[in-house]
Amino acid sequence: MIQVLRSPQEFKTWRWGKHGSIGFVPTMGALHEGHESLLKRAYDDNDFVVLSIFVNPTQFNDPNDLEKYPKTWEADLAMAERNGVDAIFYPKYSDMYPDNYRYKVTENEYSKLLDGAHRPGHFDGVLSVVMKLFNIVSPTKAYFGEKDFQQLTLIKGMVDSFFMNLEIVPVPTMREKDGLAMSSRNTRLSAEERAKAPAIYKAITESKSAEEAAIKLNSQGFVVDYVTDIGNRRFVAAKLGEVRLIDNVEI
Ligand code: PAF
Repeated sequence: MIQVLRSPQEFKTWRWGKHGSIGFVPTMGALHEGHESLLKRAYDDNDFVVLSIFVNPTQFNDPNDLEKYPKTWEADLAMAERNGVDAIFYPKYSDMYPDNYRYKVTENEYSKLLDGAHRPGHFDGVLSVVMKLFNIVSPTKAYFGEKDFQQLTLIKGMVDSFFMNLEIVPVPTMREKDGLAMSSRNTRLSAEERAKAPAIYKAITESKSAEEAAIKLNSQGFVVDYVTDIGNRRFVAAKLGEVRLIDNVEI
């Protein structure tokens, strides 16, 4: 029977009785097949699987985006049950931020590029909540999708820098048949926007340069925040109507 634990104290009481490895999948809910691939890896690798669902306000720089973030508790619970999750940590803001966000984790270089340049404070919010979640859950391994590659890299860097005792496991991006990277935000696209959205993946995989990909997307009605090559990866963020989509591929 899956346990739903709402406060850090309740979670820790559950955790104390568990001997064996814990695979942890932190999420903001609105689960899709991308999350399911993380849960499956966690299940295969560990004795117990913990899922957290917490829409973290400190990582949203746009209040409208926070308010519109999809909430699908019943479907999330069903997916957790199908995938052998042992416990769901489902806290409230006051449980996660007893300090009301006076303390935060900041990275000063890579977090200022790409999404960090367009969403001020976003990665402070992500790193801070992930540090809190790791301290509460004490996982053996935590699983993150490569779709949020910058997030994954920063979390890995935080774990190394603070000598945190867990392994970060990257999991490849899951895509729809037409190439669109799976994301909770995809459900907010209108039918017309959904039909256009695969152009993002097409542009970053088929263009010879980041500039060429940006030109293609602009000409198709996307509002492009960036297309940038860093190392052997091409990163993109572009808006379709009100919905901001991100993706990245190896080049
Ligand atoms: O990727 C997400 O869903 C969130 O950024 C995370 C890692 C759960 C932190 O709130």
